[in-house]
Amino acid sequence: MRETERPATERPATAGSAVPLPQARTGDGSCPVGPVTVHYWPVDHLDALDFDPLLHRLVREEPVALVRMRFGEGHAWLVTRYEYVKEVTSDPRFSRALTVGRPVTGMTPHNIAPARGIGRTDAPDHTRLRRLVARAFNRKRAAALRAETEAITERLVDGMMSHAAPADLAEHVSGPLSERVIGKLLGVPRGDLDRLQQWRAVILSTDASPERSSTVKADIAAYFRQLADHRLREPGDDLFSELSSAQAGGALSRPELVSLSVMIVLNALDQVRNQCTSMVYALLTHPVQLAALRADPGLLPSAIEELLRFIPQRSGVGMPRIATEDVTVGGVTVRAGDAVYVSYLAADRDPAVFTDPDRLDLTRDEAPNLAFGHGPHYCLGASLTRMQCHAVLSTLLRKAPALRLALPPEQVRWRRGTVNRGPEALPLAW
Ligand code: HEM
Repeated sequence: MRETERPATERPATAGSAVPLPQARTGDGSCPVGPVTVHYWPVDHLDALDFDPLLHRLVREEPVALVRMRFGEGHAWLVTRYEYVKEVTSDPRFSRALTVGRPVTGMTPHNIAPARGIGRTDAPDHTRLRRLVARAFNRKRAAALRAETEAITERLVDGMMSHAAPADLAEHVSGPLSERVIGKLLGVPRGDLDRLQQWRAVILSTDASPERSSTVKADIAAYFRQLADHRLREPGDDLFSELSSAQAGGALSRPELVSLSVMIVLNALDQVRNQCTSMVYALLTHPVQLAALRADPGLLPSAIEELLRFIPQRSGVGMPRIATEDVTVGGVTVRAGDAVYVSYLAADRDPAVFTDPDRLDLTRDEAPNLAFGHGPHYCLGASLTRMQCHAVLSTLLRKAPALRLALPPEQVRWRRGTVNRGPEALPLAW
């Protein structure tokens, strides 16, 4: 069993192999300090909680680096150090809207985020969309959802434990929980979830062709357009009904409503399931940490933060930003028009911020993790995710004192060819 998760071995022939860039671009803009290399980053599949070896190296050695990935054109900056990641993501001189129509080098053959989606807008449009969601997802709705989440989790865990062991946590608990919670929040009928799951699998895959992905995106958009029409006729007590009526009143456009709902539903179905399941895997493969948590259940909220920091929930990087003017980041001049990625995963393993960053330490109290991002694009689902992970872990800790993996950790199968990482299944015994 591994108490410390080391980075996977770097393979020089692929990950991180560097080609010199003819033009020197580092320095303070006036004094170039030599040739810069472009790292080829194929974003290979990683199993379990293995950490990307290139990210591990760059955060230590080259926190503002140039990378080229499998798809798209040219190269982009990759910022990995905690402090610089926070700088870039809160600086309005880095635009998301300018990525629309730009074939920036990336890890998927298709663009996951829709052009009018919340992730690809800047202020003031972005601020307007965020406010609308914040208003619709108000305290009352959040409190009701919390009570419901706890009740659903209780039933699902009981259901799993009424089976003979082994039983798969993802199938019995984390998968259905995320479906039911988002179904409730958005008012998506239960019978439609299978279809949404199939669309999710294509849109969040790293190898679907642009044609296939476009067809599926058109299908899911048509689905939400119809649902919006329906909710306008028959409003429910849910976030989507509220956003649909805001749209009818002119507060947002129909394409904005649709792409926002698509983003929310895709993330909710995928990330919560993966994250809760990976958290249980991490605890069960770090028995000393698990024992500490069992001895002091009050540790759970900080344990969840540490698990968020430690678990590499995704492959590669998310969406890039485009510099609107020359900006110096970590002593490197990023030119106007350059594409810039940040890696929250790498920032969360920055040794300048976290002592022994590759170690899971549930009592750690050093700095907030950046798992949900930073700045104006901070994840909209952060509290929802924390709420569900808390419900799953607290219920399992309480009901299953002898919880364990039902097979050796090396035999757990991990999802392949998808943007978000997580176990395919997590067979448990208790
Ligand atoms: C473990 C679970 C999750 C993780 C690690 C995660 C992480 C992130 C990150 C890193 C960002 C981007 C920050 C940036 O662009 O700078 C983001 C944005 C976003 N997330 Fe999540 N997320 C999770 C769950 C969810 C859930 C459950 C939902 C929906 C209910 C959601 C909805 C969104 C949306 C809509 C955005 C775009 C926000 C914007 O551009 O303003 N996420 N998330």
